[in-house]
Formats: sequence, structure tokens, C-alpha cells
Amino acid sequence: MKIISVINEKGGTGKTTSTREIAGVLKKSKKCLLIDCDYQANLTGSFGIEFDKTIYNVMTGEDINNCILELEKNVDIIPGIINSRDLETALEWESSKEEILKNKLETLNKKYDYVVIDCRPDMRLLEKNALVASDVVLTPIEPHTYSLDGFDILEELLKTIKPSLKDDIKHVGFFSRVAIGNAPKSVIAGSDNTYDNILDSYIRHSVKLQECSLVGKFIVDYAPRTNGALDYKKLVKELKSKKII
Ligand SMILES: Nc1ncnc2c1ncn2[C@@H]1O[C@H](COP(=O)(O)OP(=O)(O)O)[C@@H](O)[C@H]1O
Ligand SMILES: [Mg+2]
Repeated sequence: MKIISVINEKGGTGKTTSTREIAGVLKKSKKCLLIDCDYQANLTGSFGIEFDKTIYNVMTGEDINNCILELEKNVDIIPGIINSRDLETALEWESSKEEILKNKLETLNKKYDYVVIDCRPDMRLLEKNALVASDVVLTPIEPHTYSLDGFDILEELLKTIKPSLKDDIKHVGFFSRVAIGNAPKSVIAGSDNTYDNILDSYIRHSVKLQECSLVGKFIVDYAPRTNGALDYKKLVKELKSKKII
């Protein structure tokens, strides 16, 4: 089981979309669990689901199996919560509280091939739990001059909590929401860093990606021949061929 967190210090770069669509590609042959660790709960909202258990219940002692909702064959979800404050308060005196999710996910090792987590890098309890549990951290970046700063900030952030992370954790970035005609790697060409850990594949701007989240579908099913579907397939292929996931 590989645990992948999708994270960027900036909003609107395609984290939620990428979490959903990467699982959408993987589900063709692998069993996936989505987890919504973003306090905006957009991932949960994008499937329009109603379920009374959330990541809050997982974190506060409920059996994780009771908090998993089946979305379709090969894709399950643990929904998110809007208010983080309650969780921080509930776990105030808990010991090893940053390892709760990791420990619970270990019990699902035989049930899933991939866990894909949507999170924000606020470094509150849920995000820390996601990173501590992760084998791979994926950062979607928008291709403009300062966008790579976000990748660097995250690298630094990961360094500050390194002792808590898995030893072989990998952090890679990819360009997302790329306007047609834009050559994203030219952004890197102008920077001092070679950025070996930025993928070659990138996600083009695609209106269909916006549409499919409104109707609770994966792009590979909703519009399989569009740029969005093709690009996420390519991205997953590169992640697999480079043995990142
Ligand atoms: N490749 C893309 N092409 C067009 N729109 C996109 C693309 N990726 C994301 N979006 C849209 O951009 C907005 C922000 O994306 P989202 O995935 O919610 O970002 P984040 O989770 O990082 O805040 C959403 O409306 C989403 O539908
Ligand atoms: Mg989001």
C-alpha cells in the first residue's frame, strides 16, 4: 500500500482535482482510498456525498473501517470536516497524536493498493498526520515565475519535521493548470535549481476537469478523450515508471 499526500502551500493549484483524478486513473486496476484532510472539505463536496462519519471520527477513536464510504468499485473515501478547532481540542492531551492516521492506515494495508490524501500545508494536526503517514508527497504547481517557491517552501517544511517522516519519503512536483502553448519546464530553465524532482508530465487547463467535479465524476469516466483525462493518465504512468508510486 502506497500513501500519497497531495499538498501545496498555495490554494487553487489543483490539489483537490489531482487527488481525485489520480485515484480516478489508479482505480482502473487498483483499489484506492481517498481521504479528505483539507478543512475546506472540497474533495468530499465534489462527490456530493452524505455520510455521518468523517476523518474526525477516525482521529478520535472510532474504528477506521466504520468511517469508510464506498464511492464505486475500487474507490472508497473518508470524508472531511470543516472545523479543525474541534479536532485540535479533542486531541489536546493525546500522546503521539501525529501518528494516529499512520497507525490506523497500517491496519488497512491488505485492503488498498493506494491511499490518496488531499491536504493543506497549514501544519495543523491533520496535515501533520497525513505527512507522517505518507510514502510520497505530490505538489501541483502552477507554471508562473514564483510558483516554484511553493515547492521550495514545502521542501523546507518537510525538512523541519523530517524525524517524524518515513525515511524514504519522496517529494515530487508537477505543473498543473497549464495554459495551452505554455512550456512549463521553461520556468525551471530560468531558475538556479535544476529541479530533478519536477515531473516531465503536466496537466493542461481543461474545462472538463471543472465540469466533472460538479457532477461528482472522475474525468476518465466523464470525458475520457479530453486533455484532462489524458494528462492525468500520463502523470500516473510517469509516477509508476519512475517507481515513485
Ligand atoms: N487542469 C485544470 N484545468 C482547469 N481547471 C482546473 C484544473 N485543475 C483544477 N482546476 C479548477 O481550478 C479550481 C481550483 O482547483 P482545486 O483542485 O480545487 O485546487 P486546490 O485544491 O489546490 O485549491 C477548481 O475550480 C478546479 O475545478
Ligand atoms: Mg482543495
